[in-house]
Amino acid sequence: MKFNIALIPGDGVGPEVVSQATKVLDAVAEAYDHIFLYKEAKLGSCAIETTGNPLPEETLAICNNADAILFGAVGNPKYDNDPTAKVRPEQGLLNLRKALGLYCNIRPVKAYDNLLSNSPLKREVIKNADFVIYRELTGGIYFGEKSLSQDGQTAFDSSSYSVQEIARVTHLAFQAAQKRKKKVTLVDKANVLETSRLWRKTVTEIAKEYKDIELEYLFVDNAAMKMILNPTHFDVILTENLFGDMISDVASSLSGSIGILSSSSIGINNGLFEPIHGAYSQAKGKDIANPLASILSAALLLKYVGLHEESEAVERAVQKSLALGITTQDIKRKTQKSTSTSKVGDFIADYILNQDDSNMNFRNIHMGQSTII
Ligand code: IPM
Ligand code: MG
Repeated sequence: MKFNIALIPGDGVGPEVVSQATKVLDAVAEAYDHIFLYKEAKLGSCAIETTGNPLPEETLAICNNADAILFGAVGNPKYDNDPTAKVRPEQGLLNLRKALGLYCNIRPVKAYDNLLSNSPLKREVIKNADFVIYRELTGGIYFGEKSLSQDGQTAFDSSSYSVQEIARVTHLAFQAAQKRKKKVTLVDKANVLETSRLWRKTVTEIAKEYKDIELEYLFVDNAAMKMILNPTHFDVILTENLFGDMISDVASSLSGSIGILSSSSIGINNGLFEPIHGAYSQAKGKDIANPLASILSAALLLKYVGLHEESEAVERAVQKSLALGITTQDIKRKTQKSTSTSKVGDFIADYILNQDDSNMNFRNIHMGQSTII
């Protein structure tokens, strides 16, 4: 089959990790006889530098015409340290989410057996943790009215949610729970915020349509604590935009490295797939960033366009790289040398093309040679 994929490498290590993901997609295309047509587009600080706009019109048009979007990272320390900057790289991603109506962000968090010793948590606490965060992505304080007073002494950001905005992501979270462990945890701050009380009311009402699902409520501060003390407690977490941003970074540290976590942002007509990690500008160009989050984002993209078997082949190849310790420095084992970003990508692409351990010359992998005899 033939698919149009919009590629947005973005800033920092984005281009390096996205090129590993396309290497892997090319291997899938060859092994399973598909055609992936890529159209590359700019977003973020690289787009500001060339066009003055973090989300150029052309990028939006390419995304609108694609079957799915593979995204790298956005951000540049130059802007982080300059509160007076009028345009920011992150606006590119936020505007793209809004323009494409990508209202549901899905972030799976899983303790891989081969990485348990990388987790900051005790083995027995993190073992078997497997949950997914459903984060509302186009509403709340991110997109509310905001302003700074003339004298620069006062600022405000407002948060609002409609029942319709809450309901559409809630249905997706409950449907996901039906295919998992049948529990939804609504994370909010209903003891303080009016928007959170509307979330509780709306979600409680919708839960009546899903009688097989247990619904529990947690305040966000308590949820962050519980995620560290008892991560196996969770199955599907449903939450608003800002709380989802915060708790997904908490969650991402549990599994040992943020460098392996991928996410999908699903909208009305499109899907965008990206690592949870940011631009990691210090590592740019060094060939050390972990490409697994981007490669696993490509696996999510394959599933989204209906290529389930192909998506599983990518996941298997990633598992194999973890089992063999063919990993970048962030998750290497004490006794092993780390592998570069591009060599991890080479291994995974080769494994997909061969899918047979007997063809792999593992001894050569760390020497930077081909993985195929
Ligand atoms: C994320 C990121 C973004 C967000 C930034 C880059 C705007 O942190 O996807 O979690 O806050 O949503
Ligand atoms: Mg974030």
